[in-house]
Amino acid sequence: MIAAPLQSAIAAAQPTVPRHVAVIMDGNGRWAQSRGLPRIKGHEQGSKAVGECVEGCRDAGVEYLTLYAFSSENWKRPAAEVQGLMLLLERFLDQKTNEMIEKGVQLRAIGRLEDLPRPCHDRLRRAIDATAANDKLVLTLALSYSGRSEIVDAVRELVRAARAGEIAESDVTPDLIAAHLYTRGVPDPDLLIRTSGELRLSNFLLWQLSYTEIHVTQKLWPEFTKADLLAALDDYSKRHRRYGGV
Ligand code: IPE
Ligand code: IPE
Ligand code: MG
Repeated sequence: MIAAPLQSAIAAAQPTVPRHVAVIMDGNGRWAQSRGLPRIKGHEQGSKAVGECVEGCRDAGVEYLTLYAFSSENWKRPAAEVQGLMLLLERFLDQKTNEMIEKGVQLRAIGRLEDLPRPCHDRLRRAIDATAANDKLVLTLALSYSGRSEIVDAVRELVRAARAGEIAESDVTPDLIAAHLYTRGVPDPDLLIRTSGELRLSNFLLWQLSYTEIHVTQKLWPEFTKADLLAALDDYSKRHRRYGGV
């Protein structure tokens, strides 16, 4: 039998796989532009990179993967680009739902999903229902998502509950707030990956990323491969998370 201190030393020395990986998939437009292609071609290529990332996470033993696919602010883009992105989402759901069922991937979505065009919304609902029993990897797509709106929606629910006399001021704690976010029930991300070298959060998971380790790569999202994912996981395994302690 191995003594307890030794056991914990072995555990600490072993590479740790993040339970939850979140990704800001950025750089599709620049990838296309650098090749003289229209931006939508970058989004097309980017949706292929999603498959690699999902498979890589599943194989590595990651339990939750959350992908920032479309922000609330992205509605400001030219109508043709927005339409193209919505069509790609439809196509992704049409082509990938069976594969997700086969591979044990459970699909979820966060954001103001009611903003999505009807065909996207319907397909999304169907895919979510069809994969609900899967348990190998929980894949969450952030769509029409804004971290600030998520917090606003949670506060509104809490105000309603307080008005109805269901909660008191002293009941409002970080846990109660977390339980009213779109991500309720999902642990906070351990690792955030952002591609294309940008050093900002762009309104993604503002509450949940408080103590998340951040890995930024210069790679543009359409060229992000399994090897890049493994490099990010390796980087994570060397981090020392302190949560404000010593
Ligand atoms: C990320 O790539 C995809 C979405 C935001 C939908 P971008 O479209 O932002 O690509 P860049 O940042 O302009 O290169
Ligand atoms: C963040 O990327 C949103 C997604 C990846 C879906 P953006 O390209 O929209 O963010 P900014 O404009 O660089 O902050
Ligand atoms: Mg961008």
